[in-house]
Amino acid sequence: MKMWSGRFSQPPDAEFEHWQRSFPFDRILLPYEVAASKAHASALAKAGVLTVDELQAMQDALDQIGREGIPQHDDPTIEDVHHYAERKVVEVAGEVGLKLHTGRSRNEQIATDLRLYVREQIDVISLLLTELASAFVKKADDAGDHAMPAYTHLQRAEPVLVAHWLLAYVEMFLRDIDRLADCRKRLNVCPLGSGAVAGTILALDRLSMAKTLDFDAPTANSVDATSDRDFAIEFVHALSLVALHLSRWAEEFILFSTTEFAFVKLPEPYSTGSSAMPQKKNPDALELIRGKAGRVLAEATTLFTTLKGLSLAYNKDLQETQQPVFAVAQQVAGMLRVATGFMSAVEFNYDRMQQAASCGFMNAQAAAGHLVRQGIPFRRAHELIGKAVRLCVEQNCELEQLSKEDYRLCGINADESFYHALALDEVLAVHNVPGGTAPALVREALQTAKATLSQLLGVAHACTQRQAP
Ligand code: ARG
Repeated sequence: MKMWSGRFSQPPDAEFEHWQRSFPFDRILLPYEVAASKAHASALAKAGVLTVDELQAMQDALDQIGREGIPQHDDPTIEDVHHYAERKVVEVAGEVGLKLHTGRSRNEQIATDLRLYVREQIDVISLLLTELASAFVKKADDAGDHAMPAYTHLQRAEPVLVAHWLLAYVEMFLRDIDRLADCRKRLNVCPLGSGAVAGTILALDRLSMAKTLDFDAPTANSVDATSDRDFAIEFVHALSLVALHLSRWAEEFILFSTTEFAFVKLPEPYSTGSSAMPQKKNPDALELIRGKAGRVLAEATTLFTTLKGLSLAYNKDLQETQQPVFAVAQQVAGMLRVATGFMSAVEFNYDRMQQAASCGFMNAQAAAGHLVRQGIPFRRAHELIGKAVRLCVEQNCELEQLSKEDYRLCGINADESFYHALALDEVLAVHNVPGGTAPALVREALQTAKATLSQLLGVAHACTQRQAP
């Protein structure tokens, strides 16, 4: 049975009818459709529309449909997931199934199903992010006090601890988790009872429907509730940032795995060979993460573009907002799983990193800082050390290799303490204001990250275990 044939005297054009269906993709929403329909059925019974027995029959039918699971194949006679669930209820429970749609509209249903889907994905992806961040923390822990160059403009800038560099990524992922939690807060209101646009005509207990589905409250305005997809945009944009972070990470690790850098040893389980060049080990996992990030960003743009011209409230264009949400959730989850596997397996060439951290004048700023502590104004100190660097370039040596006489010619009094300040350990230690790379601070930052992540892991596990439908 169609959901809307009564007022039509002509059947829909066959091609149009087939083309406008969403069942090929929205059937993955079935678990949420079932949960929301059960909440609606209870409200119908409370409002006197269903008897106790009818409610029972309806709930049993919905439970059975839930247990049967998401249909594996498309069915061209079904318009969308709402049509499917309703038709199945009639099939299983008989005539009483025809009462299910009393006082509700597919407009509120899709708004509810999509919120439930996104909420579950937020929980899953937050857990994946926590696991990825934990893999970074583990590597940071393993890295001890090893140093590496930090780059600005991709030129050697200052040495940092390898752990400090890895913890930079942890900060990015913690922000991602926080953004998702923030999105979840605003998302967690229940559109059921909003009807098609003006609200429902029955005395449905909206509060209890919201509670049943673990929402914080019912939505406040039926017009907004049926047309709002802000939560989808926020979700997809939060995930675009996750993808962007992963892409930057992938790019950096690809670069650092080249023979030229050789900081990162590519783990074989996450690399591929070349069919032509026997010697090759290629960073395909990283390249694909970088490549898929492009698709994720494109989906976010699709969503904005679909919504930007829509008048209130429901328009069929809104059906087009589903696929970008599904695609982004699935892509990012896959990217995170591979990234976590990669990070757990990756190894670093600490010798090479440490060696790179010890040359290239990366102690120049610390040297200028030393002169500042002796009372020389920074701008002058900068100039003096700059001259010394120029001399080094001419002599093809490092700052610590210039003689006292050379320094004297540059106008610098290079005593023992000056040379001491140039040593790698000293350069690292001097960055000892919170947020900096001094080893004691990095150890503290590591402990903080561990504590934060173990707390988040607890929350994330709890959330994914008590998933609604
Ligand atoms: N499949 C539709 C969607 O995803 C369900 C809502 C249909 N509502 C309507 N008024 N035609 O948006």
